[in-house]
Amino acid sequence: MPIFPDDFLWGFSTAAFQIEGALQADGRGTSTWDVFQDRPGAIVTGETADVACDHYHRWQADLDLMAAIGASLYRFSIAWPRIQPEGKGRVSEAGWAFYDRLIDGCLARNITPYPCLLHWDLPTALPGGWRSRDTALRFADYAHEITRRLGDRAPGMFILNEPNILALLGLRLGMHAPGLRDFEAYCDAIHVQNLMSAHAAAAIRAESPGLKLGNAIALLPAVPADDTEEASEAAEACDQWMNRAFLDPVQKGSYPPLVEEALGERIQPGDMALFAEPFDTIGVNYYFRHHCRRDREPPYFAAEQHAPGDTNLTAMGWEIAPEGLAEMLKRLREDYGNPATFITENGAAYDDVVTPAGKIEDAARIDYLAKHITVVGEACEAGSNMRGYAAWTFMDNFEWALGFSKPFGLVHVDFDTLKRTPKASHTWFGDVIAANGANL
Ligand code: GCO
Repeated sequence: MPIFPDDFLWGFSTAAFQIEGALQADGRGTSTWDVFQDRPGAIVTGETADVACDHYHRWQADLDLMAAIGASLYRFSIAWPRIQPEGKGRVSEAGWAFYDRLIDGCLARNITPYPCLLHWDLPTALPGGWRSRDTALRFADYAHEITRRLGDRAPGMFILNEPNILALLGLRLGMHAPGLRDFEAYCDAIHVQNLMSAHAAAAIRAESPGLKLGNAIALLPAVPADDTEEASEAAEACDQWMNRAFLDPVQKGSYPPLVEEALGERIQPGDMALFAEPFDTIGVNYYFRHHCRRDREPPYFAAEQHAPGDTNLTAMGWEIAPEGLAEMLKRLREDYGNPATFITENGAAYDDVVTPAGKIEDAARIDYLAKHITVVGEACEAGSNMRGYAAWTFMDNFEWALGFSKPFGLVHVDFDTLKRTPKASHTWFGDVIAANGANL
């Protein structure tokens, strides 16, 4: 029976590109994902996010379904191309109006809005994109503009979402936008995203010093896949590249040694001084650990999302390892100054079955969530500075390169009719919220 703080927030995370649809509406500009999804073969199911969940038009009913179970936290992302279709300069009032209403809609339902400034959908209008230092300055302007308009309607913001996964899947492995497989591009995107975080934080603080700031990072304990020395080295490399490359700059003002060496002259004089003020919060996205082996090419690790032979996996092929979350929360507590911590994503895809009566009894998802929320409660008891838990995700959505084939929602979406049906997990989560976690 874990004990959560009285003011602990419970709710959901979503991402603009995965749910909004309406990609052409109200003058929205294009994002790297608009371009990538149209590449033959990029989305394994051949689907697109053109309509997705049509949240852009159905957001009121969606917020109602969150409020119906007492959710008090909604971490959503703002699509930069809706705000600045050209990635700089002119602000689209129509694009901003959507988020303006969404924020007020949250407040009207007693849901704390927690915007994320960028969940991967970078405007294509930015020359050089994720590889260009100039993107960091453009991003700071955008962040400033949002802050000015947000006023005091949110306690804080998440700046970037999963910069580590973006760099890995988007620029090193080519599985996500922008679809590059290039170690140099990967290194560029690491430093550019850290610069984006620093410049945006400075711009936000200049406008609204009280806002709590941090990134949402996919934290992955790195473990050796076997008992060889090589696998241990690979796990150490993985930890530096996947976790510390994004934790250390914004919390400690430094890069871990392997990353620092590879970034080389990308780190220009004065860059590290931008990280002088540590971030206030951290968003932890947690799904699995990385089981590492040596790879012949830099960054010299290859990782699987489960241990060799483990067959107890979610529909993504991911292991179920709540102990990995416990480990990362302990590390934040002990090595990173115990920052205010939110679980900004955690959840599981399963091949849900809709019964003839129209019900979705997703017991496996409930079990997954219960195990992980229990770990969060234990971390609270151990002294972690935990502030909230946002399940990934509110409703089934566009799972990036996997199209609509992997449902993570606590609410089912019929992608022919766009009808929403709460799953058993949604009701169950409402019970957890009502008991502030004490019924687990
Ligand atoms: C992220 C995540 C989400 C995914 C989820 C399941 O970037 O925050 O990738 O967008 O949908 O992690 O894969």
